[in-house]
Amino acid sequence: MDKMIYYFSGTGNSLRTARIVAGEIGGARLISVRSDPEAVSAAGAEVVGFVCPVYEWDVPKTVKTFIERLAVNPRAYTFMVATYIAVHGRCFETVDAALREKGSRLHYGRALRCVASQCIAYEPFPPARFMVPRADRKAAKIGKEIAGRKRRKYPKMSPLARRLYPRMMVPFLNVQHAFDEGFYTSDACVGCAICRKVCPCKNITLEKERPAWNHACEGCIACVAYCPKKAIQFRTPEAYRALNNPLSRRLGLPEKRTRYHNPHITAADLTRDEEVVP
Ligand SMILES: Cc1cc2nc3c(=O)[nH]c(=O)nc-3n(C[C@H](O)[C@H](O)[C@H](O)COP(=O)(O)O)c2cc1C
Repeated sequence: MDKMIYYFSGTGNSLRTARIVAGEIGGARLISVRSDPEAVSAAGAEVVGFVCPVYEWDVPKTVKTFIERLAVNPRAYTFMVATYIAVHGRCFETVDAALREKGSRLHYGRALRCVASQCIAYEPFPPARFMVPRADRKAAKIGKEIAGRKRRKYPKMSPLARRLYPRMMVPFLNVQHAFDEGFYTSDACVGCAICRKVCPCKNITLEKERPAWNHACEGCIACVAYCPKKAIQFRTPEAYRALNNPLSRRLGLPEKRTRYHNPHITAADLTRDEEVVP
């Protein structure tokens, strides 16, 4: 029976984590949630895992939609590892609820601190040289627990986060469709299409050899982080400026800002939709 791990990753932390966990389990198929869920079903799997970042105190919408459409063996052992920096919010509750709709449930959930990578809002932190080896060690520990089919209650959204969510997250989610209006390219763009290939939301097309963003962006920053020419720029979109919120007004991409991606994950790794980890 198959061991399936489905992942979403913009700047590589989650794919790196998924690979480490897969290495501990042995013989797992790693599948991007960019895939068609019907073509990569987990109906006959004995282990089903999800690895993704926390976005806006929840899972990326692409992940939620993918799981809703995925067939899952109700007898399979299930797990989730969420990469994040500070607030995991309700990400595990969302996945558990989606699994329960299928007669399954989440048996194991862990949040793993990684480099905060949203370089359009802040300088990525803490430093990768310190954070990446630390996250790798923790991922290996988590992988061993999963390989042993450990059951572990997942962390729930804190009461404080629950209270703050409507004020702090909902205004951003309401204008998310307009986020990618902020992207444009400088003359450094060579039309290499790497941005299109790494986008986990299939949101980028090439028009006259320049990227065009098609308003299904989750803000993962893969296009910015993996552009070999640092040609992708960002200015605050009008809808975000109108929020009149100190954070939304600060969005931008100064020349000196670090465009972080996980040092172990290349653009070619993110382009692949499936791999088997021995
Ligand atoms: C659009 C966006 C939203 C994020 N929201 C949160 C959040 O709500 N809570 C948190 O702790 N980290 C948040 N982060 C940090 C990421 O979860 C973290 O950097 C993650 O490891 C990135 O995974 P990836 O490299 O696989 O894309 C956010 C990052 C991005 C790009």
